[in-house]
Amino acid sequence: MSSIRPVDESALHLAHRLTTPDVPVPAVVRPGPVPTVHGTWVDYAALDHGASTPALESVVRAVDTAVRTYSSVHRGQGWLSRVTSAHYEAAREEVARFVGARRDDVVVLTRNTTDAVTLLARALPTGTPVVVFESEHHASLLPWQPEDVHRLPVPAAGVASALTALDARLSALEDGPTPLVVVAGASNVTGELWPLDQVVRTAQRHGARVLVDAAQLVAHRPVDLGSLGADWVAFSGHKLYAPYGAGALVGRRDWLDAADPYLAGGGASAEVTRDAIRWSTGPARHEGGSPNVLGAVALAAACAAVREHRTAVEQHEHVLTERLSDGLRDIPGVRTSSIFGPDTDRGPVVAFTVDGLDAHLVAAALSAEYGIGVRAGKFCAHLLVDALLASTPEHTTAVRVSAGLATTPEHVERLLAAVRALATTGPGVEYTRDVDGGWVVADDPRDLSVELPW
Ligand SMILES: Cc1ncc(COP(=O)(O)O)c(C=O)c1O
Repeated sequence: MSSIRPVDESALHLAHRLTTPDVPVPAVVRPGPVPTVHGTWVDYAALDHGASTPALESVVRAVDTAVRTYSSVHRGQGWLSRVTSAHYEAAREEVARFVGARRDDVVVLTRNTTDAVTLLARALPTGTPVVVFESEHHASLLPWQPEDVHRLPVPAAGVASALTALDARLSALEDGPTPLVVVAGASNVTGELWPLDQVVRTAQRHGARVLVDAAQLVAHRPVDLGSLGADWVAFSGHKLYAPYGAGALVGRRDWLDAADPYLAGGGASAEVTRDAIRWSTGPARHEGGSPNVLGAVALAAACAAVREHRTAVEQHEHVLTERLSDGLRDIPGVRTSSIFGPDTDRGPVVAFTVDGLDAHLVAAALSAEYGIGVRAGKFCAHLLVDALLASTPEHTTAVRVSAGLATTPEHVERLLAAVRALATTGPGVEYTRDVDGGWVVADDPRDLSVELPW
């Protein structure tokens, strides 16, 4: 097929049948229109928040302000060092407030969730058993010592079965060292919320500790370490409207203070003689080297904005979530995925397949023909996606749509119309395989060069 079908105007200029509540949510940086293969330019439909979100306007402003006085942290006597050090430590305090940290909790500023979970993995007392469901993102599934990991299968029969499996495994570990349970706050594939209260209560009954991987949770729902009773929480700035390379591990300090520094060097060391090293305690122990101050400022600005507007954020996303999941489920030939079942509370994330179409082809067509950004694949959760797709051998990968503050009702309506059109008549232009096994438009009329920002 070499001809290009004219743009389907009805799919691109849908009436806003869906409306979100008229309450202000924090403003995101808007990218401007993007080109389609039909020769039109359309508002970019932001449905890939689960991978990375755009920045908040307030985050960009905060970084722009902090960079003007940027200097060294904790190391200089100059006035600007005082200012920058104050920014950095205030950022830590805001992150603590954001997750309801307890008085004694430590906030280690990291690069992202992967970094935060790996830091805790390196700090575990030797022989700590780690109990983790196979549904976890690889960042939470993989960094543990292989001989210490107890993997539980992807829950196949609802929340109760998951809790029973956890309870049984922790019972079997009761006579050994304190176990660590690792659990996602929300699935990065299906958006479903894990029953954190029940997981923590189950763990506590057996004297186990809990790390919550909140990478997919904090942008959508609050976390309060104090009332939840979990021991640690990890999350990433770039999934929380602060894409400046910072994340955090927040929680109990005892194991962290007893562990070797994550990065040995300046900051991590309190005193060095020829014969001995005295390592710092608290966050400094694991923040060796010069920290990412601007990333920390961005993270804190995002935390502050989302915390202040939490109700509006939840209302905005609730409407989008319902429409996305109900709308996709209603399209013939589309199958949505679920771990716990359709009634589970969830964030604005839905994974689905389209009968007869490769998931990467669907994602490529949504982008090229409709200006919609989504992701296809296994989302760094291979075991979960394999389990979810086990009953549809035609598919080994899925499409994931994930909404957030940059998503408008029109984006959701456009997505639903586009998926319906793809499921009914297939792609409108010809695609070929690219070198990575994805799909590209065979005869792309767009100028594909990217203007560099510097
Ligand atoms: C649930 C979950 N955990 C951990 C991660 C890893 O986050 P990062 O890539 O920011 O380290 C992701 C990323 O998608 C995720 O969705």
